[in-house]
Amino acid sequence: MTRPLKVALLGCGTVGTAVLRLLDEQAADLTARIGRPVEVAGVAVRRPDRHPDVPAHLLTTDAHGLVTRPDVDLVVEVIGGIEPVRSLMLAAFEAGKSVVSANKALLADDGGELHAAAAKAGVDLYYEAAVAGAIPLLRPLRESLAGDQLRRVVGIVNGTTNYILSRMAETGHGFTEALAEATELGYAEADPTADVDGFDAAAKAAILASLAFHTSVTASDVYREGISAVTSTDVARAAEIDCTVKLLAICERVGRVGDGAAGDGDGDGDSVAVRVHPAMIPTAHPLAAVGGAFNAVFVEAEAAGQLMFYGQGAGGEPTASAVLGDLVAVARNRVAGTAGPGVTTYAGLPARPIAETPTRYHVSLDVADKPGVLATVAQEFARHGVSIATVRQDGHGDAATLVIVTHSAPDAALSATVAALREMPAVRGVTSILRVEGLS
Ligand code: HSE
Repeated sequence: MTRPLKVALLGCGTVGTAVLRLLDEQAADLTARIGRPVEVAGVAVRRPDRHPDVPAHLLTTDAHGLVTRPDVDLVVEVIGGIEPVRSLMLAAFEAGKSVVSANKALLADDGGELHAAAAKAGVDLYYEAAVAGAIPLLRPLRESLAGDQLRRVVGIVNGTTNYILSRMAETGHGFTEALAEATELGYAEADPTADVDGFDAAAKAAILASLAFHTSVTASDVYREGISAVTSTDVARAAEIDCTVKLLAICERVGRVGDGAAGDGDGDGDSVAVRVHPAMIPTAHPLAAVGGAFNAVFVEAEAAGQLMFYGQGAGGEPTASAVLGDLVAVARNRVAGTAGPGVTTYAGLPARPIAETPTRYHVSLDVADKPGVLATVAQEFARHGVSIATVRQDGHGDAATLVIVTHSAPDAALSATVAALREMPAVRGVTSILRVEGLS
């Protein structure tokens, strides 16, 4: 057996600790699977005194020195954030090291430059753990589905918000109470902004869209709405039409304006629409059954049809599983003296703004129950070119609730319709508006 492959670990929080433990416990199996032993060369942390369980001789505060050390072959990055990680990764590539990362924010921001640097150095950049934790998803998109044409990738990629929305549906509680419960039970961070406002899901959506559509998509291309405005009324209205509310990351290839929701097949004039927002989905949809803090991603491809990936999207051990899977892959490549497949962005599809993206709305209105009101409301939809799919009226005294689900229309037309409805004298209140996905 030749010399061990040496790994530099950057960061030693929950995931890093689990990576170290699994590397130790599974050393014999990993050696057999890779063809060479894997040894930890060093662990870069900010405060060595906070890591009493890591052998002291491995700990260092000099991350740059560690990643460029001549005996280091592979780098595992679980620090997170943009800097100093970006510079450390570029230094690692320049020094000929492959990198495994769990860093969604950096990959969603700068994936193009990092991939180019890895390719130039002839090394690997793998980041399965960056999206949906333990779920094997990025390599299936990068490799297994590389011969197919992807149409849509729709996922629940944030466990915190899925837990909150699931509890709202189960208990009838509002967002604030459900968030408080999630915080108390440790599902939500002390500062839940990145999760509840959709930033975490938007970064993941950018990575998914880039891989699915061979196009460079960054987090700034992603339309984003979080869940803090979702009310118990929204959740109740969803249940009335056999739907449930989920925060969805939706990546789709769409045809020219006016061609409808899907790319038209010739690819000419297609663009990529990537968005994160709460939506009602039918309870019969496979994603509706994804409860608690679990993640799932639904993929629609031309030849493969519909695929579903499901599992734990966060946590030390599940995320470490994805990191180690990547580590084995890049270590095997290193042993073979090669690098794995990179990512391609040859399609270069433009990003479609949300205003031009076809969506469907569910609108619930409190109105006066008298002749002509339904006609005036319907007229407002028609004026904006929005076709109504279903209307339901529940009467109560001189008032009524109108529940309207539209057909697909450009999002700007739908939001303009809602703005106009709010101004109508006959409309006493707009009590619930949510986009709807997955209805036939
Ligand atoms: N905070 C994320 C979630 C996990 O709630 O799913 C890490 O991406």
